[in-house]
Amino acid sequence: MTTLDPWGVVKIDNYSKLFDEFGISKFDDLLGKIKNPHRYMRRHVIFGHRSYDSVLRAMLSGKPFAALSGFMPSGKAHLGHKMVMEEIIWHQQQGGDAFLAIADMEAHAVRGKSWKDCRELGINEYILSAIALGLEPGAHIYFQSGFKPVRDLSFELGIKANFSELSAIYGFSGETNIAHMVSALTQSADILHPQLKEFGGPKPVVIPVGSDQDPHIRLTRGLAYKTNMFMVEERRAENGLISVRGKAASKEALKEIAKRTGGKLYEEHVDISGRTLDEVESVVREVELKHGGYAFMPPASTYHKFMTGLQGGKMSSSIPESYIALTDKPEDGAKKVMRAITGGRVTLEEQKKLGGEPDKCSVYELLLYHLVEDDNELLEVYKDCVGGTRVCGNCKKFTAELMRGFLKDHQEKREAAKERLGEFGLSIT
Ligand code: TRP
Ligand code: SF4
Repeated sequence: MTTLDPWGVVKIDNYSKLFDEFGISKFDDLLGKIKNPHRYMRRHVIFGHRSYDSVLRAMLSGKPFAALSGFMPSGKAHLGHKMVMEEIIWHQQQGGDAFLAIADMEAHAVRGKSWKDCRELGINEYILSAIALGLEPGAHIYFQSGFKPVRDLSFELGIKANFSELSAIYGFSGETNIAHMVSALTQSADILHPQLKEFGGPKPVVIPVGSDQDPHIRLTRGLAYKTNMFMVEERRAENGLISVRGKAASKEALKEIAKRTGGKLYEEHVDISGRTLDEVESVVREVELKHGGYAFMPPASTYHKFMTGLQGGKMSSSIPESYIALTDKPEDGAKKVMRAITGGRVTLEEQKKLGGEPDKCSVYELLLYHLVEDDNELLEVYKDCVGGTRVCGNCKKFTAELMRGFLKDHQEKREAAKERLGEFGLSIT
């Protein structure tokens, strides 16, 4: 018997390499602990993570945590960007601090966008839509170019990054302009800056991304680690022994750690037993902060699957027919749905006999990712489709209407958001 899997649209097999080769953990293992899981979590659109348990622990115990993402203001915001915005907003609703960077330095350096266009696209495409989708005041929205804490931190991180490492990740060559390299470090600074003292100090911060973005996350985790004064190692083989190494720490700081943990002080490290890793890490963070270090926690990440393009293949900003922009006219959005590729059979008879293939259907994907919130309702669509009682023509019309409604409503909210920019410390010009 085949089981119905209404969330199976994007096959997780395509992603299994990420688990095995790159050490990304399965999100499913955490799902049971989350109180009001987001639609993307319930439906396994979010399938992987790094260190998300740290975020979850803070969320469940009422401790500080944050979620951050950045958007390059180089074109239109579309449904793919909406996914990330929703993930940030969800974390804000769970009590987290929300950060939204407009990556204007990157757009200027890499895409040649003028500062004026960056400003305009940043506000009109990304910020207004994020507010319309539910981002609330208290969120930190900023343009990289105008935000000194991030620019200063990127310079500092540059001390620990070298050309070979960056070029391996970003494909830089001798021809790459320097500002492009700077913008890569700026992205790492975006990710780490919520942990600066002025933003409340070290805390779990989650960066929701598509799985292709993992190299950036790994780079930033590496930089966090290299920038810190201490390294904490669990030496399981030696019966719960924990070692703290002072990579760039003063003797005094190391001494203080030994004293506060009851550990044994050596030349360049302290050995500690009878303490949990959490306890040791929190002492080390306090001592490091006191002695002028950053004590960054490695940033956490979640990985979501991609939507396929409406015409099959990839969704790409350079192919307008492949995506629906949040500012597409409702009419045009509906038309794009009507022209989208389905998982329907060649003839109606076949469709009735064999049923449709929602797993291969970009229309079904729109329902699953964006347009149907109720899981049972979605399950009905799925069952009717595979059972052959749902025909694509009607199904597309149904979906097109939902899309029209969503875009109309979203765009009304965007208009209202124009009046609310002040609440976020921003203005339209
Ligand atoms: N580089 C990202 C892009 O191309 C934008 C970005 C800048 C970003 N800073 C970030 C994404 C921080 C996640 C976190 O769209
Ligand atoms: Fe896709 Fe709907 Fe056709 Fe099923 S009936 S293949 S979900 S368009």
